[in-house]
Amino acid sequence: MILVTGGAGFIGSNFVLDWLAQCDEPVVNFDKLTYAGNMNNLLAVRTRPEHIFVHGDICDNAHVAQLLATHKPRAIVHFAAESHVDRSIHGPGEFITTNINGTFSLLEASRAYWSSLADEDKANFRFLHVSTDEVFGSLGPDDAPFSETTAYAPNSPYSASKAAADHLVRSYHHTYGLPTLTTNCSNNYGPFHFPEKLIPLMIANALAGKSLPIYGDGKNVRDWLYVSDHCAAIREVLKKGRCGETYNIGGWNEMTNLAVVDTLVDILDQLAPKADKTSYRTQITYVTDRPGHDRRYAIDAHKIERELGWKPVETFDSGIKKTVQWYLDNQAWVADVKSGAYQSWLEQNYNQRDAVPAAMPGGAQ
Ligand code: NAD
Ligand code: DAU
Repeated sequence: MILVTGGAGFIGSNFVLDWLAQCDEPVVNFDKLTYAGNMNNLLAVRTRPEHIFVHGDICDNAHVAQLLATHKPRAIVHFAAESHVDRSIHGPGEFITTNINGTFSLLEASRAYWSSLADEDKANFRFLHVSTDEVFGSLGPDDAPFSETTAYAPNSPYSASKAAADHLVRSYHHTYGLPTLTTNCSNNYGPFHFPEKLIPLMIANALAGKSLPIYGDGKNVRDWLYVSDHCAAIREVLKKGRCGETYNIGGWNEMTNLAVVDTLVDILDQLAPKADKTSYRTQITYVTDRPGHDRRYAIDAHKIERELGWKPVETFDSGIKKTVQWYLDNQAWVADVKSGAYQSWLEQNYNQRDAVPAAMPGGAQ
């Protein structure tokens, strides 16, 4: 069996659902159920005996050690993290605790477990660390995309905490020989994406008749990848990746935030037209920029294609249509997520942002 951390979050739950749709190998899903963890994401596997959910914290070394001794996984896929850049700006502490100390604690428990394995199991064991392209910092408009050898230059507390975790994982391979793999992926989108992130927030706000808040001038560029493509890439790296290596994963799909929101508006106008016949575009508002906002991310995903034969299946056009349709079909999921602490996050993040006249988008940096 495999152990997944953070399997009740956005990408982790998609990974668990995809895994169990493809094979019968059991998954132990270890998750703290923070605001971002949601058991409703896993309803489709609630009757599958191969899905074993365990509520716990990766910082709790004794709990993880007991879990490893009980279930004896052949691999760990480590998704658990604090993942939202804006939250890391408002409160970096949790990011240091979970992303750095939590990864350290998990590595220590994994090392002790791995050391106790018989030779063959030891050789076959894998620790796959799921990381981000944000560790590489920000690109200029004409810079080459991030490759696996690009120097680290994280700019937010979130990306700095992920960079620290990446370095720890690297060191556990180099020093102790732990069979590690690291993936650095670009922006994901798809079902179960928490509506604090750009795409689900824009869909939820549009349908609720609220403003669509574009940070700065809206010309920041991200490389978007449909989440099931990311899950497939992780499965390939787990199966065939070379230990100690890192693999960049991306969608070959750079877009400005404005282009993303324009696309969403067009699809929503078509699939869920407003009663008054106006376009959702009228809800777009420019607001004060994110502090330290990275301008551009782009991924060179040649290595994973060349070595492991992976490349994305979805285009942005096909993936974003599926995504919007999923949110339209799952408004109860959104309503449930939006109850409780979500409202206070919106107040904290958006109430202090001034609306900036469209004639001079950008706001204070
Ligand atoms: P998410 O915030 O949606 O989910 C994180 C999950 O981790 C939640 O279920 C949460 O309950 C759990 N968790 C948090 N702290 C924990 C702890 N201390 N112990 C156990 N569980 C804990 O995140 P996501 O967007 O699904 O991202 C998953 C991973 O992928 C993260 O490591 C993130 O850095 C990385 N990543 C995300 C993206 C993206 O676009 N979302 C892109 C590249 C890499
Ligand atoms: O690149 C991978 C990373 O992508 C992951 O490591 C992170 O976990 C994930 O959250 C994501 O980070 P971003 O900061 O790129 O994603 P977010 O959806 O928060 O923002 C995408 C872009 O949209 C970014 O340029 C900021 C902008 N934005 C975001 C929000 C929430 C807005 O203009 N308005 C908003 O309200």
